[in-house]
Amino acid sequence: MVRTEFIATGMYVPERVVTNQELEGYMDTSDEWIRQRSGIEERRWAAEDEGGSDMAKVATERALEAAGMEADEIDCIVLATISPDHFFPGTGVFLQRKLGVTGVPCLDIRNQCTGFLYGLEVADAFIKTGQYRRILLVGTEVHSSGIILSTEGRDTAVLFGDGAGVAILGPTEEDGRGVLGVRTHADGQHAEKLWAPAPACVNKPFITKAMIDEGLTRPFMEGRDVFKHAVTKMPAALNEVLEIGGFSIEDLDMVIPHQANMRIAQAVAKGLGLTDDKMYINIQRYGNTTAASIPIALHECVQEGAIQRGDLVGFTAFGSGFTWGGALVRW
Ligand code: UT7
Repeated sequence: MVRTEFIATGMYVPERVVTNQELEGYMDTSDEWIRQRSGIEERRWAAEDEGGSDMAKVATERALEAAGMEADEIDCIVLATISPDHFFPGTGVFLQRKLGVTGVPCLDIRNQCTGFLYGLEVADAFIKTGQYRRILLVGTEVHSSGIILSTEGRDTAVLFGDGAGVAILGPTEEDGRGVLGVRTHADGQHAEKLWAPAPACVNKPFITKAMIDEGLTRPFMEGRDVFKHAVTKMPAALNEVLEIGGFSIEDLDMVIPHQANMRIAQAVAKGLGLTDDKMYINIQRYGNTTAASIPIALHECVQEGAIQRGDLVGFTAFGSGFTWGGALVRW
């Protein structure tokens, strides 16, 4: 039976470290508030001319090196982002051009914090059917250009960070290894609970100076409601994929959650009865990097040896849309 395996992972975060103390200089906030409510201590911001495809290029080169592969061995790019380089075309083609792999398909995915898991579901199906053999799966975000550095935008400005994470996926026939299940969900009833109202093609023109002046391009979030849904949907998504394989929580060696808030991850762990050492959290250093958060955490986990070959690894995410999902991988 053919399954999808993770051949290699890679990540890149911009050099610039932005501490909570630095944010205190831009808005009415405090290091104490940010740490207590979210667990975040610092995040990275991309340089002036650094886009999501630039960061993804470096992360990909690192993964290719780890895999001992050349870029031209990639036969498909699946890229998740909510902060594209440009309005169109998709960021995947810019990454493709920078990697020099002209001709391979580039599929952009816009499923916010669940983007990497939606991408994994698609890539897994492609690999199982034999459509592609070396898929580059990317999550990359530049949030620093969308947030508003004032008290008005503080509820989201302190949470988001920039970065890129990638995985190179391919087929394996090794018994019991690889992606055992992926399930994704959405509920558009809640679309406006975490969203950026502009630019918006429902308006003509899709962007005006008034929209910018009103701050409509920044993220708006009903934080408490998002929190409430996240702490129920994330464990449910994990349980759903465990059930597919006939596993239970005790079988898990590591869970990699989307890094939205340390309190969310801790509540999910507590609700599931998972010990702290089985829930990987790195939000302290990067904030919420949306589609990039799971692949960045995965890469760090692998680098630190916190995931070993043969381990059962669970993934779970929740975010704007609402979208949510889970995945289970025998590493
Ligand atoms: O990745 C996508 C999914 N996103 C999430 O899962 C995020 C889910 N939500 C959360 O993580 C939390 O709701 C937040 C961290 C966003 C906020 O924490 P909270 O405990 O829910 O705070 P709150 O929104 O209820 O706000 C409490 C107070 C408010 O003041 P009042 O109305 O009580 O006077 C806010 O205006 O904190 C104020 N506040 C801030 N104060 C200092 C909001 N943002 C800030 C800030 N600094 N940055």
